[in-house]
Amino acid sequence: MPKNVIVTSALPYANGPIHFGHVVGAYLPADIYVRFRRMLGDQVHYVCGSDEHGVAITLKAEQAGQGYAEYVDHWHQVISKSLADLDIDFDIFSGTSDHRNPQHRALSQQFFLDLQKNGYLLEKTEEQYYSKAADRFLPDRYVSGKCYECGYAEARGDECPSCGKYLDAKKLIDPRSSLDGSVPELRPSKHWYLDLAKARDEWLQGWFTGKKGQWKVNVENFVLSELKGLRERPITRDLPWGVPVPVDDSAGKVLYVWFDAPIGYMSISKQFFEARGEAERFEELWSDAETELYHFIGKDNITFHAVVFPSILKGAGRNWILPENVPANEFFNLEGRKFNTSKGWFIPEDAVKGQFPVDALRYALCCMMPETADSEWTWQEFKSRVNDDLADNLGNFVSRSYRFVEKFFDGVIPAAGELRKQDLELLASAKKAADEFEAALRSFNFRRAAASIMALGNAANRYYDSEQPWVSIKSDRASCAASIRLCCEMVQSMAVLAKPILPNTARTLLESLGLPGDSGELEKLGRLNLGEAEIEGAPLTNSLPKHRDSKGREKTALFPKVSDDFINEQLNKLKAMAETDSASSGDPVPKQTPVIEFDQFTAVEMLCGTILAAEKHPKADRLLLLQIDLGSETRQIVSGLAEHYSPEELPGRQVVVAANLAARKLRGYESQGMVLTTETGEGKIRLLSPAEGTANGCPIK
Ligand code: MF3
Ligand code: ZN
Repeated sequence: MPKNVIVTSALPYANGPIHFGHVVGAYLPADIYVRFRRMLGDQVHYVCGSDEHGVAITLKAEQAGQGYAEYVDHWHQVISKSLADLDIDFDIFSGTSDHRNPQHRALSQQFFLDLQKNGYLLEKTEEQYYSKAADRFLPDRYVSGKCYECGYAEARGDECPSCGKYLDAKKLIDPRSSLDGSVPELRPSKHWYLDLAKARDEWLQGWFTGKKGQWKVNVENFVLSELKGLRERPITRDLPWGVPVPVDDSAGKVLYVWFDAPIGYMSISKQFFEARGEAERFEELWSDAETELYHFIGKDNITFHAVVFPSILKGAGRNWILPENVPANEFFNLEGRKFNTSKGWFIPEDAVKGQFPVDALRYALCCMMPETADSEWTWQEFKSRVNDDLADNLGNFVSRSYRFVEKFFDGVIPAAGELRKQDLELLASAKKAADEFEAALRSFNFRRAAASIMALGNAANRYYDSEQPWVSIKSDRASCAASIRLCCEMVQSMAVLAKPILPNTARTLLESLGLPGDSGELEKLGRLNLGEAEIEGAPLTNSLPKHRDSKGREKTALFPKVSDDFINEQLNKLKAMAETDSASSGDPVPKQTPVIEFDQFTAVEMLCGTILAAEKHPKADRLLLLQIDLGSETRQIVSGLAEHYSPEELPGRQVVVAANLAARKLRGYESQGMVLTTETGEGKIRLLSPAEGTANGCPIK
């Protein structure tokens, strides 16, 4: 049964450009998923738009001397162009400001009132800075003063840039309004809070527990710990820009940006259906329990999508659907550092655009996606993915198959023969790839999906090699024709698999086979003709695109290759950009050490031992073979110490051994454990020793 599916990508803040980190977090995976579900025959509605309220935006607009609407319009344009350039194909890309989306204000206010009516809002009055000169309340970020933690003179009300601590604005020494330099005063201000603890106790915890095992582990763990400490959260602010709080006596108060932004998914969807004259569709879709809702986001947005927004949806009491899944990605870095557009640590759009087809970029990004752990963009990896996968695997297979059709079959795809064993095996590989592809995408494993396309490419290339059509064309034309026909079938199969990740390539290939560019169903892979569209007798049309190689020569190929010169040029540009900027470059990525359970730690058996003998590994310069006395037994351990110790200096040294590691062979010699070492920071490795006089075999705890 086809399903109704709603897919959303995090609404990007309209206060700066987006970079690859955003793209792999929320846009590319969603777009791939949308194309995939459409391919399965589901009805997919894909909405997005810019996030246009909040203090970060008011501040920047004021600094730029622009009106708020004018300011967000600029970034809305820039961002929507960047996303369109990547072929991210929304049904609608709108936004949350009034002038862009006439549905947003009313819908957000309706949610506020619904929640209030249903007892999910708390009211509290607290002191807040007020500028008499500007006649308005000042958000913490608008107040500066001396840091009470470190004494830094220019600390911001919410955070100190010098010591990095979060601050309580009310405790700043000598506070000043950053709007006008005046001394602000504290005045009471009333605000509304969303009672998340109530939601948790009533239903949220239970709902979430019911999802156990269905969501990505990274998301599940995050939410579980979040639920424990859940408290009410303020959902209003004193700001001159945003959705006005819809109650009397609340002049100058607006809904907090994180309250109205996710409602933006709905108001934008509403705008879409209104424009199509199907206004009733909006409510139908968003309150039909059968609709599947998916939020694609980066990990910094998990709480809002897995906890806060569901509480808003449910608390409103109108049967709005809750997310089926929130497949959040981890962070994405650039060549070992965090992306930082203002510090020059990013990839300018024209670096890839114009030089390589957008599909190459989509594919490479897909392969680097931070699905389960943080990952990074490296130019080297871009090169490998384009050259090894797209050019040498997929592209090469298509070229060699097509060249054969052109040269020996007058450009017309030959008929299939009786299917032979090897043909059936190849068709089975196509079926297997399709199954893996589908399973991977259903569980948001985008990297695995990409890998399954290349697995089929490998199988197809191996088939071509072993069929040796260049030999059979001379000895057995019918058999050669059958092989080449199967190759064309495989091009068709790979084109179908390519549709979500490489949509343009898929179209090019299908059309080159004389098929409609959007044809092909996943479930038919593995059958001749994909069970339907007959390619037999089709003339190969205009075949493949033309590119210039690094020496400027024109070449016909599915993908151009990435040269070392290109990579080096990009790396140098990155370095230069970072250097011309005042601050050296992006911030280093803090080292991520996953937390382990106590049991995992105690599972490692560490014992004291003494090296009895040491010699060079006969086949590896960097390895030494050690014989170590562990009290009750002598072990052989192969260790990478040869550049740090000579064999002569080792016998008699006491060492610490990780003793219950599974044995493995290193260049032919079995290693039964590992000796522990430290790194000196200058790249030197030193052996770790137990306290003097410890007996061999004593445990370390
Ligand atoms: N603008 C936010 C960010 O870039 C994401 C908002 S997602 C939404 O981190 F749900 F609130 F829209
Ligand atoms: Zn400080």
